[in-house]
Amino acid sequence: MKHLLKLLDLSPEEIKNLLDLADQLKYELKHGIAHPVLAGKTLGMVFQKSSTRTRVSFEVGMQQLGGYPLFLSSRDLQIGRGEPVQDTARVFSRYLDGIMIRTFEQKEVEDFATYGTIPVINGLTDFAHPCQILADLMTIREHKNKLDGLKVAFIGDGNNMMNSWIVGALKTGMKISVACPEGYEPAAEVLEFASEYGDKFELTRSPLQAVANADVIATDVWASMGQEGEQEKRKADFKGYCVDDELLSAALPDCMVLHCLPAHRGEEITAEAFEAHANEIFDEAENRLHIQKAVMVTLLKD
Ligand code: CP
Ligand code: NVA
Repeated sequence: MKHLLKLLDLSPEEIKNLLDLADQLKYELKHGIAHPVLAGKTLGMVFQKSSTRTRVSFEVGMQQLGGYPLFLSSRDLQIGRGEPVQDTARVFSRYLDGIMIRTFEQKEVEDFATYGTIPVINGLTDFAHPCQILADLMTIREHKNKLDGLKVAFIGDGNNMMNSWIVGALKTGMKISVACPEGYEPAAEVLEFASEYGDKFELTRSPLQAVANADVIATDVWASMGQEGEQEKRKADFKGYCVDDELLSAALPDCMVLHCLPAHRGEEITAEAFEAHANEIFDEAENRLHIQKAVMVTLLKD
C-alpha cells in the first residue's frame, strides 16, 4: 500500500491489517504506552474544504506518533491562486514525508500521487471518504466483534460516504443495501464494482426495504460541502429519507446507527434517533484518530 486514495484500491487484507493496527494503537494509547514510531516525520495537510474531525484527528494523531503535522489552508497556498497540482506535488515531495488532502475532485488526489513521490492520503473528496469508512468499520467490529456476514443499510445521498460505504462493506464481507431518491445514485464506477457481488448489494428507493434485517444503519447530510446552493431542493427531494424511530424499529433490535458528522438533526436523522445512538456515533468519531494513525504508520514508517 503506497497511498490511501480510495477504498477501491485496497485489498481486503490491507483493510484488515489497518483495522488490526488501529485496534493495537488504540489499546496502547488507552494504557499509556507511547508509540513515537514516526519521530522526525512530517505530514502536510491541505484543506480546500472545512473540517473539524479530520483536521484535529490527523494533527493530534501525528503528534502522538512523534511526528510533525503542518496545517495548510488552500487559501494561503499558491495552489489557491492557480499553481498546478503537478508542481505543488513535486515541491511537497522535497520537504515532506506524507501528505493528506481534502478537496473537491478525486482527480486532484490522484494527480498528487502521480506527480509526487510521497504517500498521499485522501481526507475527503466529492467521490470518496476512505478514512471515515475505515473508522466506521473499526467501530462496527468493536461493537459487533465481526464484520463478515453483517448487513449495513445506508439511507440518503449517493455521495462520497455512500460510495465509500458500498466498497468498504463489500470488501469486508458485509451485505449493503442503499436507499436513495432517483437522480441521487452512487457513482457509476462504484455500481460497476458492486455488480460483481450479486445479492450482497441492493439499491432501492425504499428506506424501509433497505433497513430490513440491518445490523447497522448509516446516513449522512443531504447537501455535502460545495452543494450548499442546492440545500432547499435537496430537502424536498430527500423527504422520506430520514433515519427515525419507524426505520429503526424495522431493522434488527440491536441495530447500530452511524453518522460521520456533522449531522443535521431533523433532516437526515431525528434528534431522538441520534441521541439514542450517540455512544456509537461518538465512538465512530473517536476512531478516526486511531485508524488514521494506523494509515500514517503503514504509509510513512521506515
Ligand atoms: N466526518 C468528517 O470528516 O468530519 P469533518 O468534516 O469535521 O472533518
Ligand atoms: N458528505 C459530506 C461528508 C462530510 C464529512 C460532505 O462531503 O460534506
